[in-house]
Amino acid sequence: MAHYPERFIEELRERADMLEVIGRHVRLKKQGVNWLGLCPFHTEKTPSFTVRPEQGFFKCFGCGVGGDLFAFLMRVRGIEFGEAVVELAAEVGMVLPAVEVEDAGQQQRRQERRQLLEVVEKARQWYCQRLQAPEGEAARDYLARRKLQPATLERFSVGFAPPGWRNLLDHFGGGQAAAQLLERVGLVVPATDRPGYDRFRERIIFPIRNAQGECIAFGGRVLTTGEPKYINSPETLLYQKSEVLYGLDQAQSAMQREDRVVVVEGYLDLIALADRGVQGVVATLGTALTQAHLRQLWRRVRRICFCFDGDAAGRKAAWRALEMVLEDLQADRHVHFLLLPQGEDPDDLVRREGADGFRARLDGALPLLTFLLQQLGEGLDRASPEGRVAMRHRAMPLLGRVGDPLLRELYLQQLSQYLDLPYVVTDAEAVYATPVVKRSEQTARVWQPVRRDSAALSAGRDFERALLAILLRAPEMVPLWEEELSRLELEDGTLTALLTVLLEMGGTLLHGSASPLWQRLPNVELSAKAEAILMSEELQPESLQEEFRGCLSNCQLRQLNRQIKQITQAIEAGEGDMERQFGVLLALKEEKRQLQQQKSQPQPSSPAF
Ligand code: UTP
Ligand code: MN
Repeated sequence: MAHYPERFIEELRERADMLEVIGRHVRLKKQGVNWLGLCPFHTEKTPSFTVRPEQGFFKCFGCGVGGDLFAFLMRVRGIEFGEAVVELAAEVGMVLPAVEVEDAGQQQRRQERRQLLEVVEKARQWYCQRLQAPEGEAARDYLARRKLQPATLERFSVGFAPPGWRNLLDHFGGGQAAAQLLERVGLVVPATDRPGYDRFRERIIFPIRNAQGECIAFGGRVLTTGEPKYINSPETLLYQKSEVLYGLDQAQSAMQREDRVVVVEGYLDLIALADRGVQGVVATLGTALTQAHLRQLWRRVRRICFCFDGDAAGRKAAWRALEMVLEDLQADRHVHFLLLPQGEDPDDLVRREGADGFRARLDGALPLLTFLLQQLGEGLDRASPEGRVAMRHRAMPLLGRVGDPLLRELYLQQLSQYLDLPYVVTDAEAVYATPVVKRSEQTARVWQPVRRDSAALSAGRDFERALLAILLRAPEMVPLWEEELSRLELEDGTLTALLTVLLEMGGTLLHGSASPLWQRLPNVELSAKAEAILMSEELQPESLQEEFRGCLSNCQLRQLNRQIKQITQAIEAGEGDMERQFGVLLALKEEKRQLQQQKSQPQPSSPAF
């Protein structure tokens, strides 16, 4: 059997979106912490097929089949483990390593990692003991002044590094070998002209754990005043700071329960919040938020609230977070910002207002778009045309980064409403349109200007219009076809907005109402558009289903053709990551082939589920 390096398989598992992959075969619905659907491995009428993406497994309580994502793919597609790996790797854009039996080097590295983990763990225990020892008195006093309960300190394994240059070193035996070992985990600072010395001296120690709860590094705070206030372990074999979120291991169950994570800046903010009972919080460790951070969060929750200090640094951090998160945005991912009053951090605030006060603030946090508009509008006069246009210019490049095309259009529309400007993508703005490949997939961005020459598009527009006409007439079809519809990218911006609204209305479409649907749409522009479509499109009530399916697959086909064209152009122009783009191209062509095959076959009378 093919044997891939453990790290590679782990990373693949981490990067692949379990819900998306399984979602292609099973229509999943969220229920509590689980996602539920009809089991693809046996026939059933009520869903007992369960997916838990955070834990990375699925299980059918009907037929008992279960396992990880690889097991799912192997079974559902009837393929070998090796083939499942190849498929997933192509999908997430990872280059396959040479297939091999774990070689001596890899075995050695794994052992090395285990050995280093033991060293860090031993150091952690020692720091904890020092805090309780007589020499820890000043540190204990300090923590008591900060009103942290002993149970909280214990939960986060807070410790103390006593003053002196070689306390930890001596605890490990003091010799050359100990110094070298401690150097490799960043706990001893090497020096050329003299022996190495303890990195953390006279500091409160905060162990940094990875998501699995393994201690991999430390942060240390001065007891009184002094510079720098915090120091962290340097990057080591165990610790890459751009990937680690402080507190993630402890926050996971609350994150799962609340389907939300709060991101703060500091260790003590997080600990103070936990102390008062606000869980589900992680902290970036004196570094800006990275894609690796976000990837880990989105795997676990659908809502992120960034909670930063109200000072200049906090606002800057919030803005960077916003820029970073834009391209991840898609349906059902929610980002909020809570900027605290000038000069206050979450620690101060939760102490003053308590957990409930803090939660109330979280609930009132600004949605991403509101925050974005508020920040962009700073110093601009929204009453003057010049100010409004300036804001539009500032906003466009940002909104152009929004990963999901439907969402991007909707944001543009809200921006236009907010600025009271007409909603048109002018030629001058067109350069901001559709990115072909997301940067989060670590590929160069390829911008495709949207060309709006109407003659060439009119055929596609007709299908799109007819599709919307059918949905407006028979809105009960929206929830039935939700999955396909929410993946659909239409050429016409207004129709896209209309479709998005229908999808958002979802179940409420089914409730009877005295007034026709088009009158119930949330804004007049859309209502007018809907009315116009209904008036102009002739529909045959008896063949609505059939007509719908025809329109849908035509729209899908056109969407695929557009994507294929874009990626072909990018490949021809030599832009971006070739290997990955070829992978995407092949996948698109396969999808197209299947769609064409489906179109030529008679359809079942209603969609599954
Ligand atoms: P703050 O200076 O706001 O500290 O830095 P804080 O969290 O409020 O800490 P207290 O309340 O004074 O104890 C916020 C975060 O920035 C990083 C740390 O992660 C800190 O928690 N930082 C700050 C550093 O890495 N180095 C520094 O020198 C200062
Ligand atoms: Mn503070």
